[in-house]
Order: sequence, then structure tokens, then C-alpha cells
Amino acid sequence: MRLKRIVQITDLHVLVDDNDEICGVKPNQSLARVIDDINSLSPAADMVIASGDLTDAGSPAAYRSLRDILIQLGCSVYIMAGNHDEPEAMRSELCIDNIHYQGSVDCGGWKLLLVDSKTPGASHGTVSDEELNRIENELCSSAHPVLLATHHTPLDLCASASCQMQNADTFLKIIEKYPQVKGVIAGHTHNEVDELHHQVRIMTTPSTMVQVTHNQRQARKSNDEFWDFHSPDISRHGYRILDLHAEGTLSTEVCWVNAGSHE
Ligand SMILES: [Fe+2]
Repeated sequence: MRLKRIVQITDLHVLVDDNDEICGVKPNQSLARVIDDINSLSPAADMVIASGDLTDAGSPAAYRSLRDILIQLGCSVYIMAGNHDEPEAMRSELCIDNIHYQGSVDCGGWKLLLVDSKTPGASHGTVSDEELNRIENELCSSAHPVLLATHHTPLDLCASASCQMQNADTFLKIIEKYPQVKGVIAGHTHNEVDELHHQVRIMTTPSTMVQVTHNQRQARKSNDEFWDFHSPDISRHGYRILDLHAEGTLSTEVCWVNAGSHE
């Protein structure tokens, strides 16, 4: 039996003005199309997790533009910080009505742990010792099935330093110890991945604006440009559905919204 339906949106990169573009995409407009799609789901989403890079530059004005879009969702939204975000501005400009910024949520018989992986001033991720202790304390104190969300994936998907969670091994060693951990969802890489690590399903989810192909496995030189080794795809925008079941299993699929024209 399906217990709860969660939708993950990630890497929104919202701008102040709805007509401004990144890589030929208007991210405010692509997010609005994704939200229209989410609002038409049946069964409907019980909650949405927005897993970071909510805005492109972290300005208060951009968060106010985002708030006006997220308010269209008919359910609670839980926000997380990515490397492009400013947590103070997120808290002050976004947290109204249905939008919440917190580290854990009880969801039916499941627990959701929202893990901060933002490294101040850097693109790569790190989970701080304080955050690792918080996760472990939560896992020690509850036997409920757990889904973790983090902006940076602990998977090694790309040789680019900016795509990594630097202390992924430490993070993975902790979650490996707790059989109630069923899955980890992440963003940051702007692509779709679903791999099994021990008993844990680790997923990344497409962006609501531009997708990215990671073309390289070899170490990069420090002066290489990001787009020398990555390819953008602006043909579609994505999000992930996760259905949490009463027996502690989850089913998931990525949904796509065609970009149509970028006029
Ligand atoms: Fe991003």
C-alpha cells in the first residue's frame, strides 16, 4: 500500500526576472511548467522537497520570485540549500505558508532527513561533522524507514572536483550501518542516476531547467572550464516521484516535461 507520495524538484536556478535566461532556458518559466505538471499528478503529491540550487545567485529578490512560483504548489514544500544558495536569504524570504526549512520531517511511518551539504564559498559539497552527528543521532533513535535528501550526491559520477561530495566515504559509512536507510536523493549533477550502494538506493534527479552530461572520468587541470567537460541539454525539464510504502519499500520514477520553445 502506498503511504505517501513525495516529489523532488532540484536545481531550479531561479532568477529575479521571469524572462531572464541561463544557457538559453528561462528557469522561472521552466519551473512553472514543472509545477503545473506536478499539480496534475494522480495521486497528488503529499509533499515536495526542493533539494537546492533554488536560485542561481542567492539574492533576496530571486527568493521572492521563487516564493511566488512555489506558492502554486498545493502541498507543503521543504527547501534545502545548494551551492548557489544563501541560507539566510532562503529563511527570511521563502518561509511562509506552505514552505518550510528544517532538517527532518516525519512522513507517515517514514522519516525524511534533509542533510546540509553546502560548503560555504565552494561548488563541491561537504557534510560537516556537526551534520554527520545529527544524522547519526537521528538514525540511532528511530527504527522507522528513512529517506535522506542532500544537494550533493555521495556517488562518484564525475572527475570534476565541483561535482563531488568531498567526504562522501564518511557519509556512506554512516548510512551503511543502519538498515532502516532505504534511499538517498540528491541533485547538483543535473542528471538522472539510480544506483544501489549496499542496501541503499542512491538517486540523482534532473534539474527543472538545464540537464548536464558529464563527459569525463579523467582528472582535470585546475584551469579547465566547466563546459569543456560537460554538455548542456535544454530539451527537457525533470522531477522525481517517490512513493513510500508502508512495508518500508519505495518506488520511484523520473518525469519529464518537454521544453517546447525557449522563445
Ligand atoms: Fe545546479
